[in-house]
Amino acid sequence: MNGSSSPAVVDRSNESIKHNIQPASSKWRHNQTLSLRIRKQILKFLDAEKDISVLKGTLKPGDIIHYIFDRDSTMNVSQNLYELLPRTSPLKNKNFRTCAIVGNSGVLLNSGCGQEIDMHSFVIRCNLAPVQEYARDVGLKTDLVTMNPSVIQRAFEDLVNATWREKLLQRLHGLNGSILWIPAFMARGGKQRVDWVNELILKHHVNVRTAYPSLRLLHAVRGPWLPWAHPVNSAFLLLDCKAQETPLLEERGTEGKMDPSANPVSVLESEAMLENSRYWLTNKVHIKRPTTGLLMYTLATRFCNQIYLYGFWPFPLDQNQNPVKYHYYDSLKYGYTSQASPHTMPLEFKALKSLHEQGALKMTVGQCD
Ligand code: CTP
Repeated sequence: MNGSSSPAVVDRSNESIKHNIQPASSKWRHNQTLSLRIRKQILKFLDAEKDISVLKGTLKPGDIIHYIFDRDSTMNVSQNLYELLPRTSPLKNKNFRTCAIVGNSGVLLNSGCGQEIDMHSFVIRCNLAPVQEYARDVGLKTDLVTMNPSVIQRAFEDLVNATWREKLLQRLHGLNGSILWIPAFMARGGKQRVDWVNELILKHHVNVRTAYPSLRLLHAVRGPWLPWAHPVNSAFLLLDCKAQETPLLEERGTEGKMDPSANPVSVLESEAMLENSRYWLTNKVHIKRPTTGLLMYTLATRFCNQIYLYGFWPFPLDQNQNPVKYHYYDSLKYGYTSQASPHTMPLEFKALKSLHEQGALKMTVGQCD
């Protein structure tokens, strides 16, 4: 989750100065070799083309799935969810010259980045963030948008009445054929919200291509990917290979079922792998859950030749020490430093910034040209 509405413990030290990113116009060169190396490394853990969504053939209604972050809790695959599973990957054989990943930081406000964002071949957005009212700064083009179940509570009042249902419906209709990426198997608590959205899509024939990421994708990102921010550190890479030896739960199941109780050994092995990953992931600093933005970067390495990040800035002050809203479109407060937050955004940011400096991605903070 991101910011919380409860009073947040905000780190007001000069974090933003430490993370100085050069203005968009300054010299930045794409490092094709490193990008390809990262793609290859990530492909060892997951293949975004496949793992972007569970496919129809692999599950059936009634199947039981263990949530990735609440491993003792399970959910049943509903008929509606089954209906909406894609038959083939929405990214099958896709390759784009440039992709934009648009994070939700208020740093986008007054950036004038809308036009530049819309010029990319593929645009990824997060958590159904609104675009119409902010088009000048964030653009309009949307090829893939994520929707964590918590968005339904946060931005659509848990659909308490017809007005909120209509608002959500309008937002979904506005997607107009894009991929709607719903991490339905991540954490318990979202089940009902996912069910509501699925029902709405089916009932109103909403034109979206739904995708429900596989456990493998969520595992892999939670696993040791950050090492690539330090490509020379062979100790990290060694662990990458070790983790590979342990198959993921999904691969152990029968008939597409993910039931670790059927194979207790696999649970133990997976736990050990997760523990290791967590340890190495951030060099002794635990990342609790990868953010949507990080998941999207990982996914994009598979099918985007060049990756451009906008709206990634998890700090309350900008590089000139002016206040920055947590989200560009609402009044959510910074919560990532509080105990309650499952994310460790500044840590992720550091890794992404390092990739920017090495030319593996381009991060724009501040105004576009
Ligand atoms: N982000 C950022 N700085 C912010 C806000 C967001 O860098 N101030 C990036 C993060 O990578 C984040 C993404 O933009 O994942 C989308 O923002 P948000 O909707 O807040 O995502 P999450 O916090 O990951 O989603 P959730 O709260 O539903 O877990």
